[in-house]
Amino acid sequence: MPPQTALRSVASFADLWIGRRAHPDPQALAATSGLAPAVVVTGASRGIGRALAMRFARADRDVVLIARDEEALATAAADIARSTAVRAVPLALDVTLADTPERLDAALRAAGLYADVLVNNAGIGLAGAFATQSAQDLDRLIALNITAATRLMHHALPQMLARGRGGILNIASLGALVPGPHQAAYYASKAYLLSLTEAVAHEARGRGVRIAAVAPGPVDTKFHRTMQAESALYRTLVPALRAETVARSAYRGYQLGRTVIVPGVLASLAALAVKLVPHPVTVPIVGALLAVRGAERDRS
Ligand SMILES: NC(=O)c1ccc[n+]([C@@H]2O[C@H](COP(=O)([O-])OP(=O)(O)OC[C@H]3O[C@@H](n4cnc5c(N)ncnc54)[C@H](OP(=O)(O)O)[C@@H]3O)[C@@H](O)[C@H]2O)c1
Repeated sequence: MPPQTALRSVASFADLWIGRRAHPDPQALAATSGLAPAVVVTGASRGIGRALAMRFARADRDVVLIARDEEALATAAADIARSTAVRAVPLALDVTLADTPERLDAALRAAGLYADVLVNNAGIGLAGAFATQSAQDLDRLIALNITAATRLMHHALPQMLARGRGGILNIASLGALVPGPHQAAYYASKAYLLSLTEAVAHEARGRGVRIAAVAPGPVDTKFHRTMQAESALYRTLVPALRAETVARSAYRGYQLGRTVIVPGVLASLAALAVKLVPHPVTVPIVGALLAVRGAERDRS
């Protein structure tokens, strides 16, 4: 049996378990009549978000791609539409705006869609010593990695529960499992997202909605350059996965109904190690891997 068919069969069994206590509300279902279900991916113009949008599209899901850069977004959407038979709708939006949920709902409705799956992927890093970071940069990180993700999840989940179907996939990080000196606020933001995901997944268990977090180790994207962390040891010592590999693993884990997905063997071993080894041992090691050096450190 081809792997895709096998995954679909197992996912159907997972559906039965995930929806064992679901009671779809006819009114909630009627509210989406005439609209098509879509997978909404934030931060989808490049990197992991773009790969995830492509992965869902390859599984015949219409996708809505969100990011701020209109041109990059249009290119990503056109690429997905060209390589698949689904609709790929670009939506230029800064998800840290307070009225993002309303703007998203309006855009979806105008496109004849509703959010069946939300992928909270947009996120930024911040490298350097916490004491030297600007209050503005910290605010920006919290606004995107914590507030925007929480707000979107909080907005989407009640409707999904009422329909007794759907899903939320939050892109956290392996860094969620351990404090990260020199990326302290970033690691803490991902710990928040992972904790939120696991807790809400427990609250919603059996009600038909998949709720999962992905915790990848380093991935080769613009992310590290954007936060000026390319000189840190982890960039040379820790092999980075490709965004497509992370997307494939995330999609498979999500379909199977897993709550925490760690892509790759190395990251899975690291996740196990940080659970077993106490923080006084792991934190200095992580700190040594994350410390930025030379020109990047001087700029931070
Ligand atoms: N790369 C890694 O090693 C790694 C490892 C673990 C976890 N992660 C997590 O994976 C996620 C994706 O990372 P990535 O590596 O793919 O990063 P990336 O290549 O820098 O892409 C980030 C995406 O987020 C979008 N974005 C940024 N700010 C936004 C905003 N305010 N509103 C809407 N979209 C926004 C960017 O587009 P615009 O700038 O055009 O808005 C871009 O599409 C992040 O949450 C990151 O923390 C990454």
